[in-house]
Amino acid sequence: MAKAPTILAIESSCDETSAAVVHQGKVLNNIIATQAIHKNYGGVVPELASRAHISNIVPVVDTALKKAGIKQHQLDAIAFTRGPGLLGSLLVGTSFAKAMALSLHIPLIAVDHMEAHVLAHFINTPHPEFPFICLTVSGGHTQLVLVKDYLDMQVIGKTRDDAVGEAFDKIAKLLGFPYPGGPMIDEHALQGNRLAYVFPQTNISDLDYSFSGIKTAIRYFLRDALVADPDFIKDNLPDICASVQHTLVQMLFQKLKTAVKQYNISQVAIAGGVSANTGLRQALQELGKLQHWQVFIPDFQYCTDNAAMIAITGHYKYLAGQFADMKVGPEPRSQI
Ligand code: KG4
Ligand code: ZN
Repeated sequence: MAKAPTILAIESSCDETSAAVVHQGKVLNNIIATQAIHKNYGGVVPELASRAHISNIVPVVDTALKKAGIKQHQLDAIAFTRGPGLLGSLLVGTSFAKAMALSLHIPLIAVDHMEAHVLAHFINTPHPEFPFICLTVSGGHTQLVLVKDYLDMQVIGKTRDDAVGEAFDKIAKLLGFPYPGGPMIDEHALQGNRLAYVFPQTNISDLDYSFSGIKTAIRYFLRDALVADPDFIKDNLPDICASVQHTLVQMLFQKLKTAVKQYNISQVAIAGGVSANTGLRQALQELGKLQHWQVFIPDFQYCTDNAAMIAITGHYKYLAGQFADMKVGPEPRSQI
């Protein structure tokens, strides 16, 4: 087995520019520059995201190296997010990583962003044992993953249309929240009654999800309610948010429970941006107790996009000798 390395990791798949250093399997830091500019547009504007990555990447990488007390010549490899994500954003991280690896004469490690969300569980202890099931919930993906080993994962269920994070954000937009609205729904739901309103839950075959129907159902629900009372949203915001969140969480759990039963695995983890959701985290703890599952919930800083998860994945890929060649380019679709 190769020696435990020191790796610089770069994440630039969407609207966060992030860098982290991992030394002998220990993640030393996790520097993140969030792009606030997209707030005004109701979603991530790809061209603006790429330009912001270009401005942010050098200071973010410099800060990560400086805070870790690591000099460039001490690095053994550069890991970067190859995809999935926005092509222009990925291109910035990919080009930067390739240039740096080339100039330092060290290997390059291409990391799949969805695989990295799962492996974020190995940044700290306690972590799950293999095999476990991970529900990865982000702005672009919703996946049920059978995790057999660090680098051996199988997607056993996924969304056929919108991701659950996208559903959170689009419903939040209907409620008048700026992008990304998922965390705002979470915040307002804290004071609300989750059983105040009942929304239809889509249940399709297999372990797959569909979140486009609930979004449309809520659009029509709000349209009708606002005709009857123009202040409906303003006067009932906490209850609406709590009910929306509860419905989305229940939809996630429906397939998760089936997967656990089908694969006879009782170690369950969540990952990705939506795993920061308070309602989901609490409900999973409760469900875990009820079902006798061992539940793993990541630290907040490792839920949404971050380079620490790229760093830990880079570490395991380095040990497995999985390096990329210099011809590697961005891959907008998930490879797991
Ligand atoms: O993993 P992530 O940072 O980026 C992607 O890979 O897509 O996930 C971003 C998503 C967004 O949809 C955002 O609204 C959602 O995660 N999110 C939340 C919360 N925090 C982030 N959704 C609900 N509640 C939260 N607290
Ligand atoms: Zn992500």
